[in-house]
Amino acid sequence: MAKMWEGRFTKELDKQADDFNSSLHFDCKMYKQDIKGSMAHATMLSAQKIISESDADIIISTLQSILDDIDSGALDFSAGGEDIHMFVEAELTKRIGDTGKRLHTARSRNDQVALDIRLYLRDETNEIITLLKDLIGAIAEQAEQHQSTIMPGYTHLQRAQPIAFAHQILAYAMMFTRDITRLSDALKHMNYSPLGSCALAGTTFDTNREMVAEALDFDGITLNSIDGVSDRDFCIELMAAYSTIMMHLSRFSEEIILWSSWEFKFIELDDSYTTGSSIMPQKKNSDMAELVRGKTGRVYGNLMATLTMLKGLPLAYNKDMQEDKEAIFDSIETVKKCLSIFAPMIATMRVLKENMYKAAQEGFINATDLADYLVRKGLPFRSAYKIVGQIVGYCIENGLVLDNMPLPKYKEFSELFDNDLYNEISLETCVEKRISAGGTGKASIETQIEYVKSFC
Ligand code: ARG
Repeated sequence: MAKMWEGRFTKELDKQADDFNSSLHFDCKMYKQDIKGSMAHATMLSAQKIISESDADIIISTLQSILDDIDSGALDFSAGGEDIHMFVEAELTKRIGDTGKRLHTARSRNDQVALDIRLYLRDETNEIITLLKDLIGAIAEQAEQHQSTIMPGYTHLQRAQPIAFAHQILAYAMMFTRDITRLSDALKHMNYSPLGSCALAGTTFDTNREMVAEALDFDGITLNSIDGVSDRDFCIELMAAYSTIMMHLSRFSEEIILWSSWEFKFIELDDSYTTGSSIMPQKKNSDMAELVRGKTGRVYGNLMATLTMLKGLPLAYNKDMQEDKEAIFDSIETVKKCLSIFAPMIATMRVLKENMYKAAQEGFINATDLADYLVRKGLPFRSAYKIVGQIVGYCIENGLVLDNMPLPKYKEFSELFDNDLYNEISLETCVEKRISAGGTGKASIETQIEYVKSFC
């Protein structure tokens, strides 16, 4: 195929080099953004009298027909081309001849690609935000149903203190609200149009960059044309935010996998989100959660690949930067797939309340509450802590738990103990009495549910 830049060359590009160079097979994803950008550019060129109004009209209506044809499948990318920008321009010229050749006035592919990728990332990131909202909604619904479902809370994966199941999963909802904020902030940082930076130095034509920026819903224009074409900070920022989402999903996955195990049996995932084994008939595996945990690595990898790709680049545009797309597109696809599977998986999971309760009963999960009981009776906390430690030791030696050690025995450890201690250390009391703001008590859970739902 003839190249746009063939004027200077006497020989055709080697076939293998041509394939190596071409990005069309992945940047064709940005065809909508490329065409919309070109329409805004043509409108501006005509408003500034750089091209005629009639040329602009023909260019814009033909770009629209190209867009419609790609949408409908009437036009595919099999004709090939170096990239989506060349493909669209070649198609335009094929359809309207010389008029099409006027579109690239006062523009370069360097600012064009910088524009397209910003537009594409804005659209995709908004979709990711919507998926995060769905997931928060699914968590909030489970939390509403399990405000008084008691489970052991863990530190070091050791049973620590009783908590409401709602409290545990709302912790994840909080992470996802921060992810939304992080993405929204990143979108704000990147919402400046680089179009008009041209190759690197700006142009001799009297363009109106603000007009293009406004037409494409940007908050303004980039102020340095060299930076405009060479900046990919927004890719890094977004990929870091995508990585953080994956890290959150991966931690959540880890718990879902543990909770689904025979050892825990705290939840049961719906059949539609689990798989069996080809040999072991009893197995019900949490493959979806495992895959999400596994895919986290590639999203981190894409971030590292892009950071590394950029680190040695001199200003301004270098072809290395074409590598930004496959990495970030893969991260977007991965995050979207993981979020889309997670929300219904959480919505349909069955919570095995009794098992959670039993796990909370066994052991000494209410030991802190017993110490707090003595503190309320006047003992300094450190002394109360020591007495309860001795009681726990005694219970372990004698096969007892705090809930069934008789009062006379308690009194041997401290005269401050009375019959009311049993109520004070019941699991329900332990949870309900955690009234501090942000704690596992009822009022805090209600506040949390309301807060996370405000994001949906
Ligand atoms: N396909 C290129 C990319 O994605 C577009 C910009 C190419 N510019 C150039 N002068 N070769 O980065």
